[in-house]
Amino acid sequence: MCGIVGYTGVQGASPILLEGLKKLEYRGYDSAGIALVNDGTISIAKVTGRIANLCEKTNDGKDYPGTTGIGHTRWATHGAPSDTNAHPHMSNDGRFAIVHNGIIENYMSLHDELTAKGYHFESETDTEVIVHLLEMYYKGDIRKAVIKTSARLQGSYALGVICADDPDKLYVAREASPLILGVGVGENFFASDVTALVSYTRNAIYLEDGEFAEISPEEIKVFDVALQPVNKKISRIVWDIQAAEKGGYEHFMLKEIMEQPRAFKATIAPRIKEGEIVLDETDLSKEYLESVNKIVITACGSAYYAGCAAKYTIEKLCRVPVITELASELRYADPLIDEHTLLIVLSQSGETADTIAAMKECKSRGAKTIAIVNVVGSTIAKLADHALYTWAGPEIAVATTKGYTTQLAVLYLFSLYTAKKIGSISDEEFNRLLTALKALPKKIQETIDTNSKIHQLAIKYYDNKSMFFIGRNTDYAIALEGALKMKEISYIHAESYAAGELKHGTIALIEEHRPVVALCYNEKIMEKTLSNIVEVKARGADVLALTYKGNHQIVSVANDVIYVPKVDTLFSAAVEIIPLQMLAYYVAKLNECDIDKPKNLAKSVTVE
Ligand code: M6R
Repeated sequence: MCGIVGYTGVQGASPILLEGLKKLEYRGYDSAGIALVNDGTISIAKVTGRIANLCEKTNDGKDYPGTTGIGHTRWATHGAPSDTNAHPHMSNDGRFAIVHNGIIENYMSLHDELTAKGYHFESETDTEVIVHLLEMYYKGDIRKAVIKTSARLQGSYALGVICADDPDKLYVAREASPLILGVGVGENFFASDVTALVSYTRNAIYLEDGEFAEISPEEIKVFDVALQPVNKKISRIVWDIQAAEKGGYEHFMLKEIMEQPRAFKATIAPRIKEGEIVLDETDLSKEYLESVNKIVITACGSAYYAGCAAKYTIEKLCRVPVITELASELRYADPLIDEHTLLIVLSQSGETADTIAAMKECKSRGAKTIAIVNVVGSTIAKLADHALYTWAGPEIAVATTKGYTTQLAVLYLFSLYTAKKIGSISDEEFNRLLTALKALPKKIQETIDTNSKIHQLAIKYYDNKSMFFIGRNTDYAIALEGALKMKEISYIHAESYAAGELKHGTIALIEEHRPVVALCYNEKIMEKTLSNIVEVKARGADVLALTYKGNHQIVSVANDVIYVPKVDTLFSAAVEIIPLQMLAYYVAKLNECDIDKPKNLAKSVTVE
């Protein structure tokens, strides 16, 4: 996720672009840049780091004159955060500059084609292919060049373009990435979201996928792919700036919960090509994978729990033992690790101190390391032999949601990829599971859409000092994460337990009306978990069960039931966790907790 902004009018564009970028900084903040058209030439300023650095470099924009320009704040996906990889990117002839939010999935083939035609690439980004395509297709008509370029792109993009030949205009295009046009008087704007616009105008045009616009200070013309004009309605922006940053949601956590279908899709889609899983970022050959006799997954907190859930998927599909170890334990455990161990390290931030230490320890013993990380260029990504990024975009809320589900996404890809390579599953089974994996973003969306009653359940259960979360196998791993979500944001004691272990001690704590969240998704062990539900109910517990749609067995034993769509049990964590995140959110809200910044916690734990 990145932020883009554009201005054309009578005022100096640079200060307006910089102000807009400051508002968009929550969308990405590893590097930033602006490009201005002035006197028939384009000048660009880019820096690594925050917008404050860009303000310093440009003397708050004063050193970059011009009344038309574009800006970008980056959340790196392809290529580490650096001045060169920062946007805007310029064409070789200096005629075009562009900013882009999204991911171009076919950039490698376009890169090869353009290189063969003599175009020179400066950066490691997927974006740069766009500006060279524009140069290639430009024959004096910018609209046509933009349309021809867009037709070549696969993936997602919100694109802002300036051209030295047409100094007062901005060109924009959109496909599966947000883009809003701001309508002013004698000046017009575009931005990734309304936060960057509301200080200047509250009149907006929402561009749809496949639409293009030509923006001059006096007017905005919108076209479809056939260059036919499209009549657009001007809407009134009613949000204040704070609400706008959160996409209208009250908290970042809720916004990020809602972003999960998109984040999951962004993580898996570029890695599934022609019915195969492509993990270009690694060199996991058949020979190497066959030499692995043990996979160790290490991480902290939710990232560790994502590993716990995926352990079942990897073992089932690949028939290789998977050991999950908390990083803070592993680092001091004198672990039995050698060159036949594949170490998978999970970290949203890529900066967690214990995870870094555990990784170094295992590397020194000869393990090959794969890092599944959200922040490009982070310490863990750099230390690993290979980094597989979760393309979730910046996660602001301390409680991770989309970070966790996208870690599952990569682990599911890895399981299927490895199983196929080493031949531990048949082609038929691979194809069936790949289809199931591709359907997961929709199933996650369906889970969000059909769980409006979670708020009602939260009203019923929020006033409690203690809760239990139980399940078996994957359901137990999800219970661990569900309980962590509840405790970290609502401060309610929430204990997760393997359902079969209750009778070995914990059941002594079950008393009248103690809430027990029971995860019962796995059909094969359903009867066993049902027996545990009956046991806690007999001791007075109020049972809130979570199961798949159509399982009516549960109604007679639970007080309340949350239904989620039926997916393959190997992937069920990705849907089961959603209502638990929502439950924790609403319980915390009813308890008036500081949801995005829970007490005593930090987003990135860089100390031991
Ligand atoms: O950045 P990391 O994924 O390495 O962080 C690990 C944990 O600190 C993190 O998952 C933490 O448990 C979250 N606050 C949970 O929501």
